[in-house]
Amino acid sequence: MRLPAGTVIAVDGPAAAGKGTLARRLAAELGLPYLDTGLLYRAVGRRVLDRGIDPQDARVAEAEARALTPEDLARSDLRGSLADMAASKVAAIPAVRAALLDFQRRFGAAQGAVLDGRDIGTVVFPEARVKLFITASVAERARRRFLELTGRGVAADPAQVEAEIRDRDAQDANRPVAPTRRAPDAFEIDTTALNADETFHAALAFIRKKLRVIA
Ligand code: DC
Repeated sequence: MRLPAGTVIAVDGPAAAGKGTLARRLAAELGLPYLDTGLLYRAVGRRVLDRGIDPQDARVAEAEARALTPEDLARSDLRGSLADMAASKVAAIPAVRAALLDFQRRFGAAQGAVLDGRDIGTVVFPEARVKLFITASVAERARRRFLELTGRGVAADPAQVEAEIRDRDAQDANRPVAPTRRAPDAFEIDTTALNADETFHAALAFIRKKLRVIA
């Protein structure tokens, strides 16, 4: 598919709904750079935890966001329940979000991109040509996260995984700044009963229609 130059595709939605899998595959298919914006918040949370400080400390979290390096994004300890919660906490701090905004905008503006996160279609790129909002039931998202963790050899308790997803959903959706929201012009895909292939094809069909691309 040939896209108009500079096309930005925003992929938002709650944790473990399948955003990352979809966004990565769309980027590969469409020849666009891909940015997992959750990694930025995860890396900031990690840097704050490394200092032994509470991720809700706004002053420290902002300083760590401003000091972020590409190496921080390549760390192997950015996934798991401690990193999940720390990311969600620093992400509720307005100064942290402000510090990360320019990087995300520059990344997308350079040559177009697929970005996934919570506020890409509402705040980072409100003018994005294509916006997708990916959801799934809490039970299904918890099931997927549980399989992902155990697949990586991490011990997990299904009930606890579901409780953590609920907590993070509430924190991400109820914060005053850039909460998880479906943009009014976003196409919503509920992936509860869809596999990764079906989700990908539903997204691709929408993109074709939206951009009126035939091939
Ligand atoms: O997508 P993820 O689960 O890796 O994101 C980790 C946390 O970062 C998530 O709980 C909320 C926050 N986040 C955000 O607030 N805005 C984004 N654009 C991406 C992630």
